[in-house]
Amino acid sequence: MKSTKASLKSIASYIPTKILSNFDLEKMVQTSNEWILRRTGIEQRHIADNDENTSDLGTKAAIKAIQRANLNPQDIDAIIVATLSPDYFTMPSTACKIAHNLGLKNITAFDISAACSGFIYLLELAKSMVESGMKKNILIIGAEKISSIMDYTDRSICVLFGDGAGAGVVSLDDNFPIIDTHTASDGEFGDLLMTQRAQKSNICTPLSMQMKGNEVFKIAVNTLSSDVVEILTKNNIKSEEIDLFIPHQANLRIIKAVQEKLNFTDKQCVVTVQKYGNTSAASIPMAMNDAYEQGLLKQGSLILLDAFGGGFTWGSALLRFGGENDK
Ligand code: UT7
Repeated sequence: MKSTKASLKSIASYIPTKILSNFDLEKMVQTSNEWILRRTGIEQRHIADNDENTSDLGTKAAIKAIQRANLNPQDIDAIIVATLSPDYFTMPSTACKIAHNLGLKNITAFDISAACSGFIYLLELAKSMVESGMKKNILIIGAEKISSIMDYTDRSICVLFGDGAGAGVVSLDDNFPIIDTHTASDGEFGDLLMTQRAQKSNICTPLSMQMKGNEVFKIAVNTLSSDVVEILTKNNIKSEEIDLFIPHQANLRIIKAVQEKLNFTDKQCVVTVQKYGNTSAASIPMAMNDAYEQGLLKQGSLILLDAFGGGFTWGSALLRFGGENDK
């Protein structure tokens, strides 16, 4: 019988090679390895080369994700990219660039803007498009070159973020369904985490990010925790039944606070923030890929994803991972 439920059939990532350590940052702004480690848990982040665009990072992750789903690029009928650091502001979209890099013409390709919650929004969107029969195999990509919109003289934010990309393919497969997704927003808090206004005047303004970190922190912990409780309760699943809890990787203290509130064990909780910093829309698929390559994320694993970011936006997803283990 034909499947009717959407499934995440693969996961992959691409991480740029260049590393920016806390010690490198000590030479750039008034900060210290000790402060960054204690307040965020971050040890290093990866930074793309000057000539490496967000679409290049996304393309490399996408090629692997398509292979791992046992598909050819020609099987993909839509590409959706979540990014807050696109190649161009605001067109052509990063998705169109990636489609071109993959040699694909005449397919649906567009970007979404949901900041760090981007990958959850992508899952929700792809699930509905695949289950409605509109599309067969959707490539979803979170890709960020945040270094391109970062002010490396602002210590309050430049120590937090890094570059990278993560991708997956969503197709029908009842055996390993995306069980539920939840997305939400509250524009009231838009100015706590933002880039500069695009329509300030008719002159082009730089896009660097700004954040009132302390205020974001408190709202993030409460929102993430209640979001997790809501999706678990709605689906009648207890936290101990979850194989892996894979939250957005912004700050180790946020992850630990949510983990403790929800009683997830260290074994259940995937943490990569120490290696990559916050890579916004790429952070969840990059963390998933790490778990996959370490053999922790397996076909059929019950996983819970949870994210919070600028907008504010937030969301969670509950799914059985549908990807086969690498041969
Ligand atoms: O991904 C989207 C969601 N984003 C987040 O969830 C991020 C949420 N926020 C955070 O992770 C934390 O608020 C930060 C890591 C950004 C900041 O940590 P904090 O513990 O909230 O520090 P703070 O902003 O309250 O600043 C404490 C002190 C201040 O000095 P005074 O006023 O106490 O003298 C800051 O000026 O730390 C100072 N400070 C720094 N010192 C060394 C701020 N940034 C730095 C720095 N190095 N990089």
